[in-house]
Amino acid sequence: MLNIAVLVSGGGTNLQAIIDSIESGKLDNVRIVKVISNKEGAYALERAAKHGIEGVCISPGSYEDRADYFEALSKELKNAGTELIVLAGFLVVLSPGFVREWQGRIINIHPSLIPSFCGDGYYGLKVHEKALERGVKVTGATVHFVDEGTDTGPIILQKAVNVEDGDTPEILQKRVMEQAEWIILPQAIRMIADGRIKTG
Ligand code: GRF
Repeated sequence: MLNIAVLVSGGGTNLQAIIDSIESGKLDNVRIVKVISNKEGAYALERAAKHGIEGVCISPGSYEDRADYFEALSKELKNAGTELIVLAGFLVVLSPGFVREWQGRIINIHPSLIPSFCGDGYYGLKVHEKALERGVKVTGATVHFVDEGTDTGPIILQKAVNVEDGDTPEILQKRVMEQAEWIILPQAIRMIADGRIKTG
C-alpha cells in the first residue's frame, strides 16, 4: 500500500479523480493519508471530508517565515506516514530545502505539454491563455517529479489534447482536465505504487 498525501489550493477536481480511482478499485494499492490545503475553506477539503479523508489547512500566513511553514508542513506529512506527495493544484512554491528533504517523492500535475507553457508565472488559466495566444493546435497535461526548479523535474506521463476553434481559456482548461489531467494523474500514481517507476 502506497501512502500518499495530496496538497491542494482550490477546487480539488484532481483530488477527486484520485479519490474516484481509489473507490472504483483502479488504485487498489494506494491510500490517501492526508489532504493539505494552504487555503482555509478550499473546496478540496470538503471533498476530502465527504470521503472520510483527513484534511487540514496549513497556511504560510500563520508562520513567522517560510522555513517555519515548510517545517510544519513536513512534520504533518511525516506524522501521517506519507510516502508520496501529490501536488494537485497546489499554488505554493516549495522551498529548495523541502524539495531536497522529499527528493524523488513529490509529483505535480501541470496543465500543458512541458516544456511548453510552463515555468514561473504559468499556472491556472494563464497557461491556457498563453497557449491560445500562441495559436497552438495541440496542448495537454504533464505529470512530473518535482525538483528545485519550476516544472523542470523528470517527466512521468503526458497526454495531448486538441485545441478547437472558438476555445476560450475556460473551455480549454476544462477539456485539458477532462481529457488529460484526471486520467494521467491517477495513472502516474499507479505506476509509482506498482514500483514501475523509480522515485529516487
Ligand atoms: C489544474 O489545472 C492543475 O493542473 C493545476 O491547477 C489546477 C487545479 O485544479 N496545477 P483542481 O484544484 O484539481 O480542480
